[in-house]
Amino acid sequence: MSSSTEAELIHMFKGIRFTTRSSPELLKSLDAFDAREDDVLLVSYPKSGTHWLAGVIAKLYDTRVTITSPIEFGDISKLEELNNLSSKRIIPTHLDYNMLPQNFKNKKCKVIYISRNPKDTAVSMYHYYRENPNLPTVDTWAAFFDLFLKGNVVCGSWFDHFLSWEEHEDDKNILFLFYEDMKKDLPMVVKKISLFLSLNVSDKDIQDICNRSSFSEMKNDTEKENSDPSHTVCALTSNRKLIFRKGAVGDWKNHFTPKQNRRFEEIFNEKMKLSKM
Ligand code: A3P
Repeated sequence: MSSSTEAELIHMFKGIRFTTRSSPELLKSLDAFDAREDDVLLVSYPKSGTHWLAGVIAKLYDTRVTITSPIEFGDISKLEELNNLSSKRIIPTHLDYNMLPQNFKNKKCKVIYISRNPKDTAVSMYHYYRENPNLPTVDTWAAFFDLFLKGNVVCGSWFDHFLSWEEHEDDKNILFLFYEDMKKDLPMVVKKISLFLSLNVSDKDIQDICNRSSFSEMKNDTEKENSDPSHTVCALTSNRKLIFRKGAVGDWKNHFTPKQNRRFEEIFNEKMKLSKM
C-alpha cells in the first residue's frame, strides 16, 4: 500500500484530479495537439475495460498500428513523441469530452467509448488504489466509496465523465460500448468494432480474436510482456497484474452494504435523470 500523501501524488487541473504522472504543462498544452484524421481514440473512465478493448483492437489490425500510452500521461515531451510516430495511432484517454483536444473534434476522429456499471467500476478502482503506490492510500472500502461518489478520485466523477460523452452518443464518429456486453457476447461486440473501423475481418478471425482476448489469455500474456509504464495503456503501474484482477460482472455485490447500495442508487438516479442509460 502507498505511503505517499495525496498532495505528493495528485494535482488538480480544471477541477479534476490527475496524478503527478500527468504534468500540468502537458495538460495545458493538450489543446494545441495536432490530431490526424485517421487517429482512433479509446476513451474510458478508469477501470472500465480499457486494456481489454485495446487488446481486442490491437488484434483486429493486420497493418502496423501503435497503441500509445494515454495522451494525458507524461510530460510536455509527450506531444512531440506522438507527433513523431509514423504509424497509425490508437490513442487511449481518460479525458472527459470537454477536455479532449479540440483538434480531434474538428477532424472528427473515430472514438470508441467504453463504459461499465459504475458500481463495478468503483470496486475495481478501489482495489487499484489499494495496490498501486502511485495512487493515494485508502484505508477502507467505506472511505473509498465516499470519495468515488463525490468524484474525489483520479479523473473526477464517473457521472460527469459518462454524461459528457453520452451527450455525443449520436455523433457518427463515436461508438459506445459496454463492458457487460463484451462479457455477454464478445464476438458481437468485436464485429461491431470491426465495422466501425471499416476493417474487413472474417467470422473465423473474430472468433480467434475473442479466444485470444479472454481474461485468462490476456492475464497470461501480460505477465510475459516487458512493460514500460510510459508506453502501455496503463501508465500508472509497471505491475500489469494489477490490471487483470477478477474480470467479473457484479463484484460490487461482494463490497456494497445495503445502505451503500441505496445511497448509490439515489445519487445515480439523481445525476443520471437526463441520461438514456
Ligand atoms: P476488475 O478490477 O473488476 O477485475 P481498465 O483496463 O480500464 O483499467 O479496466 C480494468 C478492469 O477490466 C479490471 O476489472 C480487469 O480485470 C478487467 N479486464 C481486463 N481484461 C479483461 C478481459 N479480458 N476480460 C474481462 N475483464 C477484463
